[in-house]
Amino acid sequence: MSKDGTGGILVERKVLVVDDDVESLRLYGDMLRRAGYAAVTASTGWEGIDLAVKERPGLILLDLRLPDITGLTVLETLRTALSTKSIPIIVVSAISKDDDVMKAMQMGAFDYVVKPITYDDLIRRVELVFFSREGQGEGDQTPVLIVEDSAMDGSVLSEQLTSWGYQVTWVRTGREGIEQAATGNFDIILLDGLLPDINGFEVVKEIRATERLGTTPVIMLTVLSGLVDKLKGFESGVDVFLNKPASWEELRVRMRSLTRLRGMTKQRFVLSEVVGVITNAIELTEATEPRHNQKVAGISVILGKRMGVQGHGLWVLEMSGSLHDVGKLVVRRDILSKPGKLNSSEWAEVQRHSEYGEKIIKPVHGFGEVADIVRHHHEKMDGSGYPDNLKGDQVSLFVRIVGAADSYEALTSDRPYRRSYARDKALEILCKETDEGRWDPKVIAALSASLDDLDNL
Ligand SMILES: [Fe+2]
Ligand SMILES: [Fe+2]
Repeated sequence: MSKDGTGGILVERKVLVVDDDVESLRLYGDMLRRAGYAAVTASTGWEGIDLAVKERPGLILLDLRLPDITGLTVLETLRTALSTKSIPIIVVSAISKDDDVMKAMQMGAFDYVVKPITYDDLIRRVELVFFSREGQGEGDQTPVLIVEDSAMDGSVLSEQLTSWGYQVTWVRTGREGIEQAATGNFDIILLDGLLPDINGFEVVKEIRATERLGTTPVIMLTVLSGLVDKLKGFESGVDVFLNKPASWEELRVRMRSLTRLRGMTKQRFVLSEVVGVITNAIELTEATEPRHNQKVAGISVILGKRMGVQGHGLWVLEMSGSLHDVGKLVVRRDILSKPGKLNSSEWAEVQRHSEYGEKIIKPVHGFGEVADIVRHHHEKMDGSGYPDNLKGDQVSLFVRIVGAADSYEALTSDRPYRRSYARDKALEILCKETDEGRWDPKVIAALSASLDDLDNL
């Protein structure tokens, strides 16, 4: 970890990818770069070890199947060498190789992803590494709630979890479990599927309905093993299913991963609040029109959902929409509020807001992707945008979405120089510009299908 000149904390956002498949290397490299990381690649195990020593990346993405030595050997070598043993490693595996994944986790891998990897899944896990770098040990007194009626199972479980560093509260009935969970004091809930009063599925449903953030991870431990039961469990909100008797190693690995995820969710909640403070500041200084940023965020999320974006991606869209014009805080107020036409140097200064925005956001932990979108939110598919005149595929999906949301919001709001357009007229203008090649037709189609939802923002 290093400090940059402005005092913000910068993490070495460099990722080493080790995979023998050229296509995968290209794909993961692209995904990482899109999310604001630098990617270094190696196609054999030995090359990977070599680069890990030379490049000192902040994270290694390691395929378990390699042509020269196995991924597990690479992992072991990196774990024993002094210069590489603290670099977090995410292993990549084919779905059928469950045993190897468990072995890798036992050998100290940070996390794992299963092929085929989606952008969302990969980036979420990578962000997790960079989010949770600082001093998070196992357990770390993370508060865990155990809901288990068997005295035997309950006490063994409590003892084991305490020895891993968790802070354990144990209750014996579903009702007590729901009551305790509602206090919001727990980061993980371990739940027996068969309880004397209410069954486990009902307990989870109730917890999901009552808890404050609705996101506490739930692990269900049960003797039920049928697929139908599992599906029922996932539907009611169970995150992980473990059959009784659960292997301690598996439970340990799952808990470690869920604790980190929980940490990130909580951190994101706080970050969203802070971003809310910033958008208030943008508005109060009249750098943008009232509620412009919140609305662009809302529209971006609606379009994203309609286009199949999920989880982490939706959060990125929300943050990018909220912050897209943050750079206007740095642009001279007399230029922003000038009633007449801007001369060319004034216009150039206004355009610089996207670069200023990127500069403001980039040093923030976990905001690499957001900073990239903020920089490019005025790019157009035909290359006529700014600041980098990106064209076609160079304009990422998220940039296309936030750009279109920004433009639609501007068209449907009053401006000093014109009245707002009705939504159909605004859409017509965007469709015409799509025909001219400026917007992604798929994004504009999603917008056209979402007009009713957008009215409610
Ligand atoms: Fe802008
Ligand atoms: Fe804007």
